[in-house]
Amino acid sequence: MFDKRLMNEIRESRKYIIANVALQWLALCVNILLMYTIAFLLTAVWNGFTNAYVLLFTGLIALGAVPLRYVLTRMAAHMSFCSARTVKKTLRQKIWDKLLRIGGTYAEQTPTAELVQTSVEGVDQLESYFGAYLPQLFYAVLAPVTLFIVLLFFDWRPAVVLLVCVPLIPVSIVLVRRWAKKLLSKYWGQYTELGDSFLENLQGMTTLKIYQADEARTERMNEEAESFRKVTMRVLIMQLNSISVMDLVSWSGAALGMLVGVLSFRAGHISLTGCLMVILLSADFFLPMRALGSCFHVAMNGMAAADRIFAFLDLEEKEKGTRTDPDGCAIVYHDVSFGYSEEREVVHHVSMEIPEHSFTAIVGESGSGKSTLAHLLMKHRTFSEGEITLGGVPLNELDEHTLVNTVTCISDRACIFRGTIRDNLLMAAPDADDEQLWNALERVCLKEFAEEREGLDTQILEEAKNLSGGQRQRLALARGLLHDTPVYLFDEASSNIDAESEALILQEILRMKETKTILMITHRLRNVVSADQIWVMKDGAVIEHGTHEELMGTAGVYAELYDRQCALEQYAGGSYEA
Ligand SMILES: Nc1ncnc2c1ncn2[C@@H]1O[C@H](COP(=O)(O)OP(=O)(O)O)[C@@H](O)[C@H]1O
Ligand SMILES: [Mg+2]
Repeated sequence: MFDKRLMNEIRESRKYIIANVALQWLALCVNILLMYTIAFLLTAVWNGFTNAYVLLFTGLIALGAVPLRYVLTRMAAHMSFCSARTVKKTLRQKIWDKLLRIGGTYAEQTPTAELVQTSVEGVDQLESYFGAYLPQLFYAVLAPVTLFIVLLFFDWRPAVVLLVCVPLIPVSIVLVRRWAKKLLSKYWGQYTELGDSFLENLQGMTTLKIYQADEARTERMNEEAESFRKVTMRVLIMQLNSISVMDLVSWSGAALGMLVGVLSFRAGHISLTGCLMVILLSADFFLPMRALGSCFHVAMNGMAAADRIFAFLDLEEKEKGTRTDPDGCAIVYHDVSFGYSEEREVVHHVSMEIPEHSFTAIVGESGSGKSTLAHLLMKHRTFSEGEITLGGVPLNELDEHTLVNTVTCISDRACIFRGTIRDNLLMAAPDADDEQLWNALERVCLKEFAEEREGLDTQILEEAKNLSGGQRQRLALARGLLHDTPVYLFDEASSNIDAESEALILQEILRMKETKTILMITHRLRNVVSADQIWVMKDGAVIEHGTHEELMGTAGVYAELYDRQCALEQYAGGSYEA
């Protein structure tokens, strides 16, 4: 009924909740006064001593009480809004902060779609928990007690009967809650699953159309939607049923209270005014609890969402490294093993050294584990076997800012953001002037492209849809070059760029060797012929190591791969640009 953790997480909303309850309570007091005036007037009429003063007196009170009650209720509603707003802001901020703390590894633990739903829908559901349910919970206790005390002044019998009947409503709620909780958690599970599929299908729409796989996908989504519909219906039926039960309890209770009031009047225990007060106020005993019951289900939804939010907020955070003192920027992998899942290891006992100011390459066929080594270096993934050091400092002891200020990773999957070319470039170097930006574009052969459009202000659409694959990579490269760190890690960063431009860009990169450490991951061996050393990967392990000449001399995997690629390229007459 009441989630302590939720309350503690969002302390700021307390004052609004208290104000809300107080305002509702004041409105109730005004209502009691109004009812008393009406009962008083009716009694006066009954006893036949109405006169102008009585009418004026009751009329004035009624005239004052009605607008006052309206104002108080509006103010209470405003407090609801304030607490809901606070909750949304606080929780979304917490989720975002947590996400930033977890960083790139979040996908290891939570699917993206679920995260989106939790932080949008889930938080919205909590709005009603704080805005409506919590204040109502306190008010639903306060109101019957207040009314009980008021009615005690007239007669204890109906007052006690009414007060005793009120808890029957929460009892029925608790009974419903038992099985509702399981049902709701199932509801949320299916909801996020459906969201996952929807997001994936939306993003892959073009691919689905190409392979005409959209029908099969539609069918699958229909099935998921159908089971979601069923569970939603079950939730609605449960809610409707429990509302009917609550109505039955409320109105029976009120009727019983009135009956006892009338009987008391007949037995002479209570005055006519008292009896009228019982009749006029008995429904008010139950209404707050009844309102609590109806927002209870929404609140339950919110609490189910809260469980998910807390599950996310409670995700384990790795201990952050604090060392900021790497001695240089040589990178060493010591016997590193890693698997994305426990069942399958994809990198086995890799040991390699990347000396400072060198041009080092990691090559190997697709799927041999090259990018995985890059992910591990950038701490996008956590590994427990082996160790990687940067400038002699183990990665898990290294401060994150130091890492990203030392190594710039430019991969073929680098994200280009919606906005202008300038926005995307300035991300890497906020203080760079236009000249530097143009210079970076020139280095990656993208200057002409920008000049033909609106220069640095050229708009880029979502997912860089208006750029070709090659242009996207060039922009990512330009951004990376602007970042200006001692180490550059290129992971297939030019895989989609045409051979001619790639050669030019490569020259640029090689020129950086004087001052930078360059680690290039690629499957195109002709790009690494001039590398100081080449590490050859196969099936997740390092199998060869040496310079191009040395490796060609051994007639091993590298030599075979190189010859094969040369033959293929001659046959194809060069490369292409995506
Ligand atoms: N996110 C992931 N989850 C599970 N397995 C992955 C993931 N990324 C890559 N793999 C697997 O790890 C292996 C190595 O992949 P990767 O390092 O990307 O290879 P490369 O970059 O050499 O082409 C592959 O077998 C691939 O299937
Ligand atoms: Mg790769």
